[in-house]
Amino acid sequence: MPDTDLLTLQVDHMGILQRRYEQVLEEQGYDSLLISSGAAPLRYGDDQAWHFQGYGPFLHWTGLTGFEHAWLLIRKGHKPVLSLHQPVDFWHASLELAQEPWLAELEVRFSESQSTPEVPGAGRLAVIGDPRLLAGVPGEHNPGALCAALDETRVHKTAYEIACLAQANKVAVAGHRAARDAFLAGASEFEVSLAYQRATQQREADAPYHSIIGVNEHAGTLHYQYYDTAAPAKSRSLLIDAGVRYRGYCSDVTRTTAGVGEGRFAALVQGLEQWQFRLCDMVAPGVDYLDIHRKTHLGIAALLGSAGLVNGLSDEDMVTEGVTRAFFPHGIGHFLGVQVHDVAGKPVPAPADAPFLRLMRTLEPGMVVTIEPGLYFIPSLLEPVLSGPLERHINRSRIDELQGCGGIRIEDNVVVTDSGHRNLTREAEV
Ligand code: GLY
Ligand code: MN
Ligand code: MN
Repeated sequence: MPDTDLLTLQVDHMGILQRRYEQVLEEQGYDSLLISSGAAPLRYGDDQAWHFQGYGPFLHWTGLTGFEHAWLLIRKGHKPVLSLHQPVDFWHASLELAQEPWLAELEVRFSESQSTPEVPGAGRLAVIGDPRLLAGVPGEHNPGALCAALDETRVHKTAYEIACLAQANKVAVAGHRAARDAFLAGASEFEVSLAYQRATQQREADAPYHSIIGVNEHAGTLHYQYYDTAAPAKSRSLLIDAGVRYRGYCSDVTRTTAGVGEGRFAALVQGLEQWQFRLCDMVAPGVDYLDIHRKTHLGIAALLGSAGLVNGLSDEDMVTEGVTRAFFPHGIGHFLGVQVHDVAGKPVPAPADAPFLRLMRTLEPGMVVTIEPGLYFIPSLLEPVLSGPLERHINRSRIDELQGCGGIRIEDNVVVTDSGHRNLTREAEV
């Protein structure tokens, strides 16, 4: 049972959402809004469904990730109406709704049918959700301007949301500790995954995203998606990127561990972590997130130089010549919330020098972002540098030696506060 402070914050959260939603509906000219929780589709040609995790706006209000065919009706001046689908079904269990104070802020109904609830006197009605489930439902479906305005209501997290994100970090940190211990004891990727699941008490399918668990060269595949069941003869490195959902809210944490006797790789991990601290320290209101991304490249350049991987090139030249991009190809991070890559991060496209950056905004209090620099040995990205005009500056033998360690990523979840930031991941590690 969550503590009473959290439950009180949740009631405040509901009030804040009611005000934000009423304002958006007013501005966009709608009288009512129906939000679908969604439902898991069947696999093509099969009678088995994909694992379900609810639709963002529904989670924003309720945090209920497992309720399929549920609906939430929002109207000005009325309590929201939550309709939960509870069929008589001897094949499946129905989820229980914990009796918590936030439910008093809603009208809760139960329905045996999957159909849309009646909306008497709806006026101009908008309906948002997976279009597969909206056929025949009256109202305007997923109007673009309204959806964009609703996404914006998720950008500045309430105190309740930050408390949930903090707890999601706390649990994830326990998982990362167990994963690290398992790796250092010689575990396979699969066994590391089991250690993470056991420590977090979260089945893999309920995680906010598929855990990325790469041992040795697998750490160099950014979204490595398999688990070897056999441990390698020598465990040189572990990269684990894994999160937890707490009341719908996601953590997204990455840690990299060097194996015993991997001094050079361990020094790189330590060096990147020092930079990661500096990047987290940049998080504050008024800071352009793109500047943090660009600063990362200078940090990667400094690290490549000090580790003797690149010689005779200035940090600036390593950045402008694309050398740092070969080692750090992704963006520095993204918004975080009820979705791991939370919405509304890109009102403008990313520039050509940062094509994969998911967040193009100036930071404001209440935003929650990840800070996740990486340094990888990815053959397909390094080869053009190794065989290009800068070849003589690159220490190929050292790169060859480190290639078997795959790569490094260090990722924390950071809240923008009024005066700076709060690092939810590091505070959970204390
Ligand atoms: N876990 C995916 C990411 O870090 O964005
Ligand atoms: Mn991330
Ligand atoms: Mn991640």
